Amino acid sequence: MQRRTLLIRGCQAIAAAIMAVLFVPIGRFISAPLFRKSQSSSGAQRVAKLGQLEVGKPMQVPIIGKRQDGWTLYPDSVIGKVWLIRRNEEAENPEECKVDAYSAVCPHIGCGINHSPDKNHFICPCHGAVFDEQGAKMNLEEPGYNNPSPRGMDSLICKVVNSDDGDDFWVEVEYEQFQIGLSEQIKK
Ligand code: FES
Repeated sequence: MQRRTLLIRGCQAIAAAIMAVLFVPIGRFISAPLFRKSQSSSGAQRVAKLGQLEVGKPMQVPIIGKRQDGWTLYPDSVIGKVWLIRRNEEAENPEECKVDAYSAVCPHIGCGINHSPDKNHFICPCHGAVFDEQGAKMNLEEPGYNNPSPRGMDSLICKVVNSDDGDDFWVEVEYEQFQIGLSEQIKK
């Protein structure tokens, strides 16, 4: 091999090494969002006015938060749904009213849980998991029925707070997502 050819090949090899050093990290940086799981976050938020809730009647509310999908940030997306149940009538201090909140995500494999007002229970349309109005797993007295959910509905921290102008009372929920398929309620 001629000296000149050798020199050209050497230069090409050095150029290729420099390109690799420069472009591999840049390529990784640019493509990283493609391989990242879709992420969402919300924190505590006011989801309904206390006066909208009837005692003992479940009401579903959306949770609005940020969702990151690849390179795109969706600031006001519906990132979850929650069932609220008010447990008592107006207290002297409305902030003492008890409201329970349950995630509408089924702990079996994550479908959305509905409420059946005729039967006074919650039911998942995917594989028939049934929960009572305290969110506990139920076993129906039907031949062969076996509740597929590994646990009850996931409960969330929920409280009644005064509005900023002091005239109204809101239900505030700390939304969380939990792992599915486990017998314990464990955060994702
Ligand atoms: S996902 Fe709810 S019963 Fe299967």
